[in-house]
Amino acid sequence: MEQEKRPLKTLERVISKAGLGSRTEARRWIHQRRVSVNGEMVENPDTWLDMERDVVLFDGKPLERRERIYILLYKPTGYITTYKDPEGRPTVYALLPDVDTFIAPVGRLDLDTSGLLVVTNDSALTERITNPDSHVPKTYLVKSSTLLSEEQLQQLRDGIMLSDGPTRPARVARLRDSGKYTHFEITLTEGRNRQVRRMVEALGAVVLKLVRVQIGALPIGGLPIGRWRYLTADEVAALRGDATPEQSLSPSD
Ligand code: URA
Repeated sequence: MEQEKRPLKTLERVISKAGLGSRTEARRWIHQRRVSVNGEMVENPDTWLDMERDVVLFDGKPLERRERIYILLYKPTGYITTYKDPEGRPTVYALLPDVDTFIAPVGRLDLDTSGLLVVTNDSALTERITNPDSHVPKTYLVKSSTLLSEEQLQQLRDGIMLSDGPTRPARVARLRDSGKYTHFEITLTEGRNRQVRRMVEALGAVVLKLVRVQIGALPIGGLPIGRWRYLTADEVAALRGDATPEQSLSPSD
C-alpha cells in the first residue's frame, strides 16, 4: 500500500516562513526556548513537524498568518540580495521599507546586476517562482564586451553547455551594436547561478552590464533605480499565474 504523504517541514523553516525572521534568527529563537511544539519546548531547529497536526507557539502565541507583502525593487548594482553580508557590503534591505514582517527577495541578483527584484513574505509564491520546474521567464538586457555574431546569438538561443549542464532554449534579440559592443535582450526560463554571465563567457566575451527588466508578466516599468513600490493585486495574481509549471520557450519563439 502506498504510504500516506504528510506535509513535513523542519521547525526552523516553519518559524522563518511564518514571516517572523530569517532562518538564522529562527535558529536563535529556538535555542532560546521561545518556541514550543504541542506544549513542549523544542530546542532542535531541525525537528520535523507534521504541518497538519503539530501546534507551534512562538512566545506562547500561535504563529498567526501575517499580512502578505509584495514589493518591486529596482535594485542598483553594488547591493547584495542576502539579508546579511559577512563582508559588510550593503544589502538590498537598506533600500526597502521597514515592514513588520520578514521579507525576502524572490531569487537572487548578483552584486553587479541591477534591475527588477520582487521582495515578499509569501514563501509559497517565492518557492513556485524559483522552483526550477516552473520555468518562469526572466528577461535581461545585456551589454557584452565584444561584438557578437548572429551565430553566437543563435548559440545562446539553442543552448550552451555550461559546467552544470546545457542551458534551456532562450529567446534572444539583438538590440544594437555600438562600437565594439553588442547590446541584446535575453529571456531565460531557468535561474541558475550567474547564468547570463556564464553563457556570455562561454562565447569568449564578458558581460559589462546586466539589468533584469521582467519576471513573467511583470515588467520593471518606469520605477527609478534604487526605488521600490508595492505590487498591485493584479500584478500579484499575474505572477502567481506565471508560476505554473511547464512553461517553455522554443528556439523559434
Ligand atoms: N544571470 C546572471 O549572470 N546574473 C544575475 O544576477 C542574474 C542572471
